[in-house]
Amino acid sequence: MLLAQISDLHVRPAGQRYKDAVDSNRMLAEAIAHLNGLDPRPELVLITGDLVDEGLDAEYEALWDLLAALEPPFLLMPGNHDDRETLVRHFPEHAYLPPRGPKHYVVDRPPLRIVALDTTVPGDHHGEVDAAGLAWLETALQGGRGAPTVVLMHHPPFACGIPYLDRYMCRDPGRLEKVIGRFPNVERVLCGHVHRPILRRWAGTVLATCPSTATQIALRLRTDASPASFCEPPACLLHHWQDGAMVTHTSYIGRFEGPFPFA
Ligand SMILES: [Fe+2]
Repeated sequence: MLLAQISDLHVRPAGQRYKDAVDSNRMLAEAIAHLNGLDPRPELVLITGDLVDEGLDAEYEALWDLLAALEPPFLLMPGNHDDRETLVRHFPEHAYLPPRGPKHYVVDRPPLRIVALDTTVPGDHHGEVDAAGLAWLETALQGGRGAPTVVLMHHPPFACGIPYLDRYMCRDPGRLEKVIGRFPNVERVLCGHVHRPILRRWAGTVLATCPSTATQIALRLRTDASPASFCEPPACLLHHWQDGAMVTHTSYIGRFEGPFPFA
């Protein structure tokens, strides 16, 4: 079973640019063409938040129009740039999204189970999970009865060492780590938010973050580094469940020289 993940689309109203720098809508269209062209095609596309840039109706309209071209089914979740109620209003056909409050949900795609945990704090850019969210997660994981599970969170629950990202991580990750650590069937925790591919062992599982389909945030590890973004190649992640294990690939979106002979 092949899952694809894209993240941080930052869609703008039709005709407007993201940060006055790039055409994030065109870049999403390119990401969609890339996903549609994969062989084998992913069975499901996970879209891990920051679907749009400012939570505007006009942005969700543009998002809906763009995603209509995506051929595999897809799951949405909010990030800190989304307005979660506006999102739900524009995607009524995505009935797994709760109508009110945090957009936690479970989707079973045997043999895998997808558990999405909404880490957003309306009006803020950092992430947080309250006691009700933790209790919801525990129940959702118990309900899987050991099925291999992928947990989606927009905000990564760890400091990655890039100072201007770590200010906006998911706060107080210890309680979350305890809950997830009790379920060895969690194969991956998949995040967005940081616009970079990062890996970490966390809560007894593998945590991976996804690049953005738009700009990538600068990899700067000095504690006094100033924030910046670059037009590094956008990418998606492909999570391949095969022979009882998950293998994660990074698939770059764009035209590159090749193919060249291998041997
Ligand atoms: Fe983002």
